[in-house]
Amino acid sequence: MKLLAIETSCDETAIAVLEAEGNTHNARFKVLGNALLSQIDIHKEYGGVYPMLAKREHAKNLVPILSSALKDAGMLMEEANNADHIREELTTLLEREPGLGEALMAFLSQTAVPDIDAVVVTHGPGLEPALWVGVNFAKALSIAWGKPLVGANHMEGHLLSALAASEGDAYVIEDAALPVVGLLISGGHTQIVAMREWFTYELMGDTRDDAVGEAFDKVARMLDLPYPGGPQVSKLAEEARAGNILHPQPLPRPMIGEGTCDFSFSGLKTAVMYQLKKMEGLSDTQKQAIAREFEDAVADVLFAKTARALAQTHGKTLVIGGGVSGNVHIRRVFEMRIKAEHPDVMLRIPARELTTDNAVMIGMSGYFRYLRGMRADTETLRADGNLSLA
Ligand code: KG4
Ligand code: ZN
Repeated sequence: MKLLAIETSCDETAIAVLEAEGNTHNARFKVLGNALLSQIDIHKEYGGVYPMLAKREHAKNLVPILSSALKDAGMLMEEANNADHIREELTTLLEREPGLGEALMAFLSQTAVPDIDAVVVTHGPGLEPALWVGVNFAKALSIAWGKPLVGANHMEGHLLSALAASEGDAYVIEDAALPVVGLLISGGHTQIVAMREWFTYELMGDTRDDAVGEAFDKVARMLDLPYPGGPQVSKLAEEARAGNILHPQPLPRPMIGEGTCDFSFSGLKTAVMYQLKKMEGLSDTQKQAIAREFEDAVADVLFAKTARALAQTHGKTLVIGGGVSGNVHIRRVFEMRIKAEHPDVMLRIPARELTTDNAVMIGMSGYFRYLRGMRADTETLRADGNLSLA
């Protein structure tokens, strides 16, 4: 079947067209079209993502991104269409998304209904105003095209895309041994979930304060690095490793010895702040050294808690998903230590292009939901910023 998937939970406006087939033993997702616009340059100025600004940008970008994803998939057919009978309904549906209703009506009146079987949209978790734009847009498309609507979970998308292996222009999910343990690390989440049966999730651990990506972004700000800070901190830390530069004062590994799979990163961030305050001036070398020590502390804690969850669940497959899973050092630590300390566990890390937010992973979540009969209703589907997996 063919799916059109929409993602607007944070600062990426993304739409993908996928051809999906198979089941959990062997599923194949061919990417027919994929368009993504990152708002990073807009949010950079403010040092973080502003929900209302993100919402406005999504509203502005959704129709061009839709057009580009359909074109990519060879599904953008010009055709004069009288869309007047749904004008009122769509205008009401999109009345809170400035400019989107008019842009969509213009698009619909010039294009043929694409050959897809369902519209999938992220309805949580994420920034609620941003999520709503995508949800309302998906409802409008579902109504205008007469296609079923499916609501997808953003975190499930991160988890499934980490399970998938890249094969040419497709991604394949094959023979993942259960239980699967998922370490989901992003700007908004730091969670360990266990999946003992397909799509039944158990929350093993969560952050008590900041998410790990948020901690990276805050430390980056203290080091005068631009948003998003994760990749910048990582770059400095790698330079320190290459140059054998060590930080003289260790940073804490919060909650590492505690008997839970929970995390806390706010104390680590504060420890960085105190150490920086004590230093007079900050040389490039000192910046590199503290970035390295911070990243080491994060990797140590993430690994220790994940190892605990693997032991508790007898996990056979470990997946790491979310924006922070793109971190070179964290990937390296997990690859080395899983091999050495948990040789029976299969580690799966997403293809690099799927680590940060994208619509391909939303299509994956939506496909399996569709197979399980989970259709959403255009009247009742709601954006939920705190939507949970478990
Ligand atoms: O999953 P994602 O794209 O968006 C959310 O759903 O939050 O994750 C974005 C987060 C940001 O905090 C960013 O700084 C962090 O992931 N990040 C990284 C790296 N790449 C992105 N953190 C550490 N190292 C990286 N290489
Ligand atoms: Zn994400």
